[in-house]
Amino acid sequence: MAHVTLLTASDGMNMLLANKFADQATAMGHTTDIVDLMGLEWPVYTNKLVKSGFEPEGVKDIMSRMDKGDGWVSIAPEYNGSLPSALNNTVAWLSKQGDDFRALFNGRKVGLATHSGGGGDHVIMAMRQQFGYLGCNVIGRSLTSNFSKEASPETIESILTQLCA
Ligand SMILES: Cc1cc2nc3c(=O)[nH]c(=O)nc-3n(C[C@H](O)[C@H](O)[C@H](O)COP(=O)(O)O)c2cc1C
Repeated sequence: MAHVTLLTASDGMNMLLANKFADQATAMGHTTDIVDLMGLEWPVYTNKLVKSGFEPEGVKDIMSRMDKGDGWVSIAPEYNGSLPSALNNTVAWLSKQGDDFRALFNGRKVGLATHSGGGGDHVIMAMRQQFGYLGCNVIGRSLTSNFSKEASPETIESILTQLCA
């Protein structure tokens, strides 16, 4: 049994997709935790805020929940051919807690999924680049879905199987 942390960068269709991952992971005997990144409403990372000693609300709790994950699935909509701000901004804050920007990320297994307006390949590539840069072991198989392409249960199972191995 593994613990899967689902990082969801929007509270719309991508939250529904996170719930699909959670249901399938539970059916496979794993435990899950959905972390709603959009719901954090952390302010935009700025040097001024950092210099003032500002700490995003609940950051230690979020880091602890993420750290408990044997693997993460990052589930995000494509925005302008790239990452949505909720994901990019959260990662910026998390990478600046402590001295080592990779501390929370290095060696972490990460699966990728999206519900986007179009194909979603750009956000998958952007997440692969960002999590890879941070030292994560990003799984090759990824899931894309949109209003004319439902999320494939077989792909979800394949990602979870590799994540929880
Ligand atoms: C600011 C913004 C930019 C977007 N850019 C893209 C895009 O580049 N490619 C795409 O496929 N969809 C794009 N979309 C559409 C979203 O990816 C799509 O509506 C997605 O399903 C929203 O997910 P949600 O319901 O979880 O919020 C964009 C949406 C917004 C709000």
